[in-house]
Amino acid sequence: MKLLVVGGGGREHAIIKKLKENPRVETVYALPGNGGIARDAVCVPEIGARDIEKIVDFAKSHSIDFAVVAPDDPLALGCVDRLHEAGVPCFGPDAKAARIEASKVFSKNLMKKYGIPTARYEVFDDPARALAYLRSGVSFPIVVKADGLALGKGVLIPQSLEEAEAAVRSIMEDKAFGDSGNQIVVEEFLTGPEVSVLAFTDGRSIAPMASSMDHKRAGDGDTGLNTGGMGTIAPNPCYTPEVAAECMEKIFLPTLAAMRAEGCPFKGCLYFGLMITPAGPKVIEYNCRFGDPETQVVLPLLKTDLLTVMRAVENETLGDLQVEWSDGAAACVILASGGYPGSYPKGKEITVPADLPANVTVYHAGDKLTADGKLVTSGGRVLGVTAVGETLRNALRDAYAAAERVEFEGRYMRHDIGKRALRALEG
Ligand code: AMP
Ligand code: GLY
Repeated sequence: MKLLVVGGGGREHAIIKKLKENPRVETVYALPGNGGIARDAVCVPEIGARDIEKIVDFAKSHSIDFAVVAPDDPLALGCVDRLHEAGVPCFGPDAKAARIEASKVFSKNLMKKYGIPTARYEVFDDPARALAYLRSGVSFPIVVKADGLALGKGVLIPQSLEEAEAAVRSIMEDKAFGDSGNQIVVEEFLTGPEVSVLAFTDGRSIAPMASSMDHKRAGDGDTGLNTGGMGTIAPNPCYTPEVAAECMEKIFLPTLAAMRAEGCPFKGCLYFGLMITPAGPKVIEYNCRFGDPETQVVLPLLKTDLLTVMRAVENETLGDLQVEWSDGAAACVILASGGYPGSYPKGKEITVPADLPANVTVYHAGDKLTADGKLVTSGGRVLGVTAVGETLRNALRDAYAAAERVEFEGRYMRHDIGKRALRALEG
């Protein structure tokens, strides 16, 4: 089989490596891919993840048997709709279903209408009204979210009225996130541990994956700026079987039913960003795709063949399949360029030791190959070093030992990935 994966980060590398475990997979094309992915797939750097028409033409001209669209942008732009029109089977939601991530106003209204637990909120399309609301005696911190996609940066948590006013002005008037800020959601600040649950769904059946925990801040102890994610662990010890059962009943199944009732059944990977509040689990956000770097710890624990699962989602036969997970744990430590998430240098040569242990995988996110075949940095998050183990403690030990041996100038990592999870597990 010939497969195509749209995207070029660590998440896509993890998807590609997993797909290749199926012996029927002959070739995987990555559009655009990256320097490290080029060892596992045929990369096409000329075709970006947003070049929908070029992606569709490529799929047709290369007789692609199955496509996976991983990032949010092409999903929101209708890449799956266009591939289906061209007769290419694929994994991912259509544009209507992708609104569950692409519009926070859509997802908040969906949750309200169908009684899915989430933070209380108000929607504004007029900055003057938003400011008047903030001055009406609301409590702080409060949460201000741009409606649309904003590279994971569209959520601000002002601690005071002054900060909240600045947040509204920056999003709605200065258009810090472009048209994504035409509308905003202002919502109640919730507290409690966060859990990410990615789930395969064909619109009716759902197979939740191993739960995970991201570490979004740049610095140790959750300090510094927000990033795309500096490391992950799976499973998340806060996601107990009791919490999982409650989420299934009150959140997962109602969300699928709500999307069907709205005429946009969700097929693909639905990402539930949850907070386990004192009043029970609530939805912080939905993503219409695999998380990055959650995928780099979740897929290594999948025992069932990934392509089989993805085809069952496409064919709406997921309910007939038993999706199995390993009992172990996984940890991923991100190696970032010094300066990230601010500005950072590029073009630093990367050395990955050839003798890493078998339980360690290096997923490439922000790198490229030079004309003479050297691997150099080209992004903020450069690599994700994942280890699997029988316990989280072992997985973390091996991920960090390997991460220390991967080198490039200015390499930066957090040193406390998984610490909170270990405390929750071991007390
Ligand atoms: P998002 O970009 O939607 O993933 O939000 C980024 C982060 O903001 C989340 O991971 C949470 O830590 C935080 N956040 C979002 N909404 C809320 C909320 N209502 N209460 C508290 N924290 C929130
Ligand atoms: N790691 C968070 C996300 O993929 O949105």
